[in-house]
Amino acid sequence: MSVEDLAAVVLAAGKGTRMKSERAKVLHEIAGQPLLYYPLLAAKEAGCEKISVVVGHQGEEVEAALSELNVNCVWQTEQLGTGHALLCAADNLKDFSGDLLLLCGDVPLLTAETVALLLALHRSEKAAVTVLTASLTNPQGYGRILRDGENVAAIVEEKDASADERSICEINTGTYVFDSEFVFSVLPQLGKQNAQGEYYLTDVVAAAANAGRKTRALCLTDPNEALGINDRLQLAEANGLMRQRINQQLMLGGVTLVDPQTTYVDSGVEIGTDSILHPGVNILGKTRIGRNCIVEIGVQVDSSQIADHVHLKSGSVVEESLIGANCNIGPMAHLRAGTELLGDNKIGNFVETKKARLDVKSQASHLTYIGDAEVGKNVNFGCGTITCNYDGVNKHKTIVGDDVFIGSDTQFIAPVRIGSNSLIAAGSTITKDVPSDSLALSRTQQKVIEGWRIKHPLKKK
Ligand code: UD1
Ligand code: CA
Repeated sequence: MSVEDLAAVVLAAGKGTRMKSERAKVLHEIAGQPLLYYPLLAAKEAGCEKISVVVGHQGEEVEAALSELNVNCVWQTEQLGTGHALLCAADNLKDFSGDLLLLCGDVPLLTAETVALLLALHRSEKAAVTVLTASLTNPQGYGRILRDGENVAAIVEEKDASADERSICEINTGTYVFDSEFVFSVLPQLGKQNAQGEYYLTDVVAAAANAGRKTRALCLTDPNEALGINDRLQLAEANGLMRQRINQQLMLGGVTLVDPQTTYVDSGVEIGTDSILHPGVNILGKTRIGRNCIVEIGVQVDSSQIADHVHLKSGSVVEESLIGANCNIGPMAHLRAGTELLGDNKIGNFVETKKARLDVKSQASHLTYIGDAEVGKNVNFGCGTITCNYDGVNKHKTIVGDDVFIGSDTQFIAPVRIGSNSLIAAGSTITKDVPSDSLALSRTQQKVIEGWRIKHPLKKK
């Protein structure tokens, strides 16, 4: 099958009333990605390149969130039901005659493997409709599957079902593969004479069966994949299940999680083998962590690239930064956006960096702020060094050459440039550039007045 034989439509126009939110339901996140991202990913992984998303309620926001995903948005301005929603994508697919995958934007746990199985069944059976079902102990709220031998005779919505039909435990997950020409030929004929007065996509199944076409069902082995998000309880449940899935993949891939229950790793994060994550860590965004890293308790890493053999100690926060191999960070260090450590660096406790590039083996072990700085190799920042980068209006740079030794409690009043192999005396406020191989000191000379305390005793009350 070529890719032109497969297209997908993802329904995401519904209101999501039960979320009680100002944000569109499909933009609520689990494991760091909006709900809608997951069905799109499953469709892509199953080989689908042509994807249309039906948007409506808060459609501008949804469209904006999809801008980088190479999908087509089609509008359903009035939400008249799932059948009407798919019909809104008809124009987009008028030259398409292959298999049409239909997914719901609020069903994030569906896997690409399941989508592939559904497609395979649909193709081998040459069916008009193949629906993904699940067998639930509590089927309440879902459409029920009415079987007729191998065929599915119809799907009946809970609100339209008889008592007998409601006792059926096999439910419609809202995921289908359609013969695209067939579905677009019957959709315009669907009525809305039902309990909700909506155009039901599910009615396509009975239409196919009545037309003598094959209709098939694939029943999920893991019903969790069908979990649809309607409220925040289900959002939390899906988030927990997704997190379990991510953590399992990490562990099977050779990463040690000391306590998977309290390890939070976003979808799409990569971590190399023999790295260890201790309890209570948050690894967020598009982060990549190399091999043999240690991430201690309470560390948060967001959207950062971390090489091999890096040790992130307790309580450190790393954001949009690059950390080279063999670095030691923290405890309680804060690496802010634009930090680049080229390797073998040490950033100790209560050190904050921002837009700072440190070449190999440079270090700041304690209580230091390095912002808007370019630092060479083998530079040592003494305790309490501050780059004074902000004059109240603009930010300025501090540039430090290789092999500079910076004494404790130094302030660099940026812009300032320190030549290589210089020594900055402790307690200096450096306002002017320092050439290479120099000593710079700017503190006042110490005065000692002997016997002063004897002549000026403390007055007792
Ligand atoms: C639907 C199915 C039901 C199935 C259930 C699975 C129908 C008639 N019923 O019911 O058989 O068991 O899903 O979760 O299809 N949407 C639109 N436009 C609309 C209406 C809905 O885009 O006009 C979208 C929603 O955003 C959502 C999806 O379609 O992503 C499903 O809609 P929803 O209203 O949640 O359908 P259910 O009543 O749950
Ligand atoms: Ca639903």
